[in-house]
Amino acid sequence: MSSPLEKQMQRIMEEAKNMTEKDKLYMYKGVLYPTIVCKPENFKAIENFEAREDDIMLAAYPKCGFNWMVGMIRKIADIPEKRPPIPPLLEFSNPEKYQFINEAPSPRLLGTHMHPDNIPASIAEKKTKILVVLRNPKDTVVSFFHFTNKNPVLPTAESWDKFFADFMSGEVPWGSYFDHALSWEKRIDNPNIMFVTYEDMKENLIEEIKQIANFFNFTLSEEQVNTIAQESTFTAMKESSKHTHGQMGNVFFRKGEVGDWKNHFSEDQSKEMDARFEKCLAGTKIGARLKYDIYCQ
Ligand code: A3P
Repeated sequence: MSSPLEKQMQRIMEEAKNMTEKDKLYMYKGVLYPTIVCKPENFKAIENFEAREDDIMLAAYPKCGFNWMVGMIRKIADIPEKRPPIPPLLEFSNPEKYQFINEAPSPRLLGTHMHPDNIPASIAEKKTKILVVLRNPKDTVVSFFHFTNKNPVLPTAESWDKFFADFMSGEVPWGSYFDHALSWEKRIDNPNIMFVTYEDMKENLIEEIKQIANFFNFTLSEEQVNTIAQESTFTAMKESSKHTHGQMGNVFFRKGEVGDWKNHFSEDQSKEMDARFEKCLAGTKIGARLKYDIYCQ
């Protein structure tokens, strides 16, 4: 039996087969998006999205661990794997989905890869809590490179060097990593927004689960926390992704490590990223959260 996500992915893959590489991305309001899954109608529908105070909203730039967090939140908030919207990304799929979202029972698990400025205004108006997942830029671009090459919805990269250059100039789906990070910096002291990092989750998953549960006001016993942590390791999630993500499981759950960038970056690329970080994020609170000196040097 295919899961709802698997069925949807099969449909999307069929559509991707009939598309040229060039047509797989298009520009909407100055940002590139995957043509098949983020249609302009979706963005129009999102403009009328009505948030609820008890929605659980996840936000992450692509490849920062969004699916990891979705799996964990489903367990923390006891939201069944099969309860749509699947995937919870607001900008994905088709306009009919929004009718469904409007009628879905609370708490709704929703998410987005969009730039913070493009997140529907209703979320701030309702003071909906947002959990933001951050990841160091060097591992993010490596993960993105492999993803674009393995996901038929996205164009295959000409080369690592070309993809790296596109990432640095923000010419990748959902736009510039650095623009996203800087925009989150403006919201860093908002009490309705919590920031976690991929690297902290790798370091101490139990502690992160406790803090996330606390932020969303879910009470978990020590035993529940331990079970969620065990079920949320990379190995456990890669194994269960056969059921949750079907044939795309190995694509979404690739390597799951910190520091894979060292296997891809040239000396010059590393220096270029260091210089960009220094220019954009050094001295910011988001920059400090990323612990760049530890994970990117
Ligand atoms: P890698 O490509 O470096 O392996 P997203 O879900 O936002 O697309 O992010 C995907 C990245 O998160 C991939 O990184 C994936 O392997 C990693 N990931 C997913 N689940 C994970 C887990 N339980 N532990 C560690 N990394 C995980």
